[in-house]
Amino acid sequence: MTEHRTALVTGANRGLGRSTARALARRGIKIAMTYRVGSDGAAETVRMIEEEGGQAVALRLDISDVASFKRFADKLTDELRTRWGSDRLDILVNNAGVGLFDALEDVSPERFDEQVGINFRGTFFLIQALVPHLSDTGHIVNVSTSLTRHVSPGTSVYSASKAAVEALSRSLAGELGSRGIRVNAVAPGPSATDFNGGAMRDDPELRGFLAGQTALGRVGSPEEIGDAIAALVSPDMRWVTAQRLEVSGGALL
Ligand SMILES: NC(=O)c1ccc[n+]([C@@H]2O[C@H](COP(=O)([O-])OP(=O)(O)OC[C@H]3O[C@@H](n4cnc5c(N)ncnc54)[C@H](OP(=O)(O)O)[C@@H]3O)[C@@H](O)[C@H]2O)c1
Repeated sequence: MTEHRTALVTGANRGLGRSTARALARRGIKIAMTYRVGSDGAAETVRMIEEEGGQAVALRLDISDVASFKRFADKLTDELRTRWGSDRLDILVNNAGVGLFDALEDVSPERFDEQVGINFRGTFFLIQALVPHLSDTGHIVNVSTSLTRHVSPGTSVYSASKAAVEALSRSLAGELGSRGIRVNAVAPGPSATDFNGGAMRDDPELRGFLAGQTALGRVGSPEEIGDAIAALVSPDMRWVTAQRLEVSGGALL
């Protein structure tokens, strides 16, 4: 079957967003991707996708700037139409996020608002802005974390912001189901990216510690998260909605 679908992946200039955009593009899906400040990384993602025979466009988006979302939606639909003759978005992957890890006594209202503003508030209002452009039978995938199931010191605001994203996913699966739209959350375990200062990638001691907590005995690669998201939005998974899929190699069972 020829693939005509389009996807938007937020925060795809590096890390899990990049691996997700590449995994979707390898399956023939046309990719719109966003970056906030990493324009060089965004250009690199587009280059990688094109080198593998795919098609992609990079757009700037700050998830904390909710007032810009209507303008962003107009720009996105314009790009989909002019580049690929499509007036619909088929897949929305809300991946962009930040981890600000502080012990309870160190959480300032500003850090709290930044964390929740990007991970939850931004995700909510971006979905609100893009749902009118999403095709019936489309997919929304919200990136959460394995930390909503197990605990780690200093992650209270981060994991709560992602737990909110999981609750949102279930609610919207109910609300948008009548249009055939599936909404799921993917919860990665520790994965080797820039996240948390690159600690999961660059700190051998931490990697060894985290690897020892997984059933499969290692930290995940970005490609393993991207491939899982691509599998989740494949036609084979059309009856799956309102689910939380943990992709962690069996962390802290
Ligand atoms: N890596 C892990 O171990 C892990 C585990 C569980 C869950 N996650 C989740 O997976 C997602 C991706 O993580 P990652 O590991 O790929 O992290 P990363 O390498 O730090 O990348 C974060 C991405 O989010 C974007 N971003 C951050 N703030 C933004 C904002 N205000 N507006 C728009 N984009 C923004 C960044 O864009 P710029 O570079 O342009 O700022 C970047 O593309 C996050 O939601 C994270 O919480 C990661």
